[in-house]
Amino acid sequence: MASNLGLENATTAALCLDCHADNAAMTERGPQFDTADGVGCERCHGGAARWLGPHVSDTATHRGNIEAGLYPTAEPIARARLCISCHQRVDHRLYGAGHPRITFELDTYTANQPAHFRNDADYKLRKGTINGVKLWAIGQAVAAITMLDTISDFEGLGEGLLPELALFDCHSCHRRTARPEEEAMQGPRVYRALPTVNDSGLIMLGIAAEAVAPDLAPGIRAETGALRDAAAGTRAGLAASARRLNELVQALLPRLAENAFTANEQTLLLQAISRRGQEGAFHDFADAEQAVMAVASIVAASRLEGSGDTTVQAAVRALDSLYEATRTQDDYRPSAFQQALRQLAPAPR
Ligand code: HEC
Ligand code: HEC
Ligand code: HEC
Ligand code: HEC
Repeated sequence: MASNLGLENATTAALCLDCHADNAAMTERGPQFDTADGVGCERCHGGAARWLGPHVSDTATHRGNIEAGLYPTAEPIARARLCISCHQRVDHRLYGAGHPRITFELDTYTANQPAHFRNDADYKLRKGTINGVKLWAIGQAVAAITMLDTISDFEGLGEGLLPELALFDCHSCHRRTARPEEEAMQGPRVYRALPTVNDSGLIMLGIAAEAVAPDLAPGIRAETGALRDAAAGTRAGLAASARRLNELVQALLPRLAENAFTANEQTLLLQAISRRGQEGAFHDFADAEQAVMAVASIVAASRLEGSGDTTVQAAVRALDSLYEATRTQDDYRPSAFQQALRQLAPAPR
């Protein structure tokens, strides 16, 4: 990758180190500091100069540690901002040089990191309980705000004739030129033969809003559609569209943060994912990938809570087919995914 980009050495290039290591200022590096540690403890938990010693003493409190510079990773919005600062910003130039396509979902990635904390009684006493589905929803909102900020910022829109291609669905350009008959999905969709903005997170956010803030859901859904169309218009029009949608997401975020995500709401979410699937919402691989991670997040949370709901049971059974239908990104067939989603919640409303 480094030679494709004309870099001398990936292990010293700031471009790579900013995301692949703790690229702290030279003055902040102690004698044991080593960039080869990669994304080390302090990159996430904050430079430890002032809290490392005190935080293991008998008198330490979490609030005191935070005041001494510990990053509030337990706080969902802060955690989302931290992870997304690296897990969402890879540009097309890097992809062209060979960087793997990246995706992100806060709850799934928190578990896969791997989670190196135990959500036991002691943890709950110190930091409270965070429902995994809430983490999913907040991660989607923070990701959407980050993307919309980029789109409404003219400087962030790429150079020359073309906008930043990584803002679009990769497979709206990188796919076969012949579309086999069997790939046609059911449900209304206008094929405009233009690259589409990667709205996979926005689709999930619209679904979250249906369950949590029904008053905001129609607006988010309509503005997401409008953003897709605006991407084929002027830059000023696109920026204005991104700002309108951003306002709605900003209004949704605090509602997600204070919502309980009860078993009943989890069922509503699964039903909404299934219904949106039947309506043809998950056209691109990235959309399907987000839908699968959402289902897995809800299933994991409901298992923890011991929910025996029939929709959840159907989701557990459907997961294998959903994983199978998203196994390889370049062979993604929307119709097969739609088929797999039918098992999720038996009869769409
Ligand atoms: C904006 C942040 C960012 C930048 C800049 C970036 N990377 Fe990455 N890179 C990531 C993330 C995040 C992943 C992990 C993605 C995943 O698996 O979900 C990754 C994964 C990779 C992988 C795959 C690693 C594996 O274990 O499969 C390689 C190789 C890589 N990056 C190389 C580079 C090089 C070389 C550069 C500099 C030219 C670079 N990256 C710049 C964020 C970045
Ligand atoms: C990619 C980011 C990231 C990295 C790197 C990371 N952590 Fe964490 N860590 C987290 C998150 C997220 C949590 C869970 C939220 C919380 O409790 O703060 C966590 C939780 C913890 C906890 C649990 C505290 C408790 O209250 O029970 C400890 C201890 C910890 N990390 C230590 C470390 C150490 C030591 C390293 C390096 C070896 C490290 N972490 C690397 C993100 C990270
Ligand atoms: C400093 C940038 C940075 C931050 C902040 C960061 N990551 Fe990462 N993360 C990376 C890079 C780079 C990789 C790929 C490392 C590699 O494979 O060599 C990665 C890999 C991962 C992987 C493995 C992905 C895979 O496909 O196997 C998970 C899971 C993950 N990160 C979760 C998180 C979570 C959760 C947070 C927030 C608490 C977080 N990361 C914060 C840069 C970051
Ligand atoms: C608007 C259309 C468009 C979008 C969207 C797009 N690309 Fe590309 N991509 C291109 C073009 C054009 C090239 C250059 C093709 C060439 O050199 O043959 C390219 C080249 C590449 C290459 C190098 C291929 C090669 O054979 O050298 C990779 C890898 C790549 N893109 C990955 C991605 C990923 C990952 C995404 C999504 C995050 C993406 N692209 C989104 C149009 C696009």
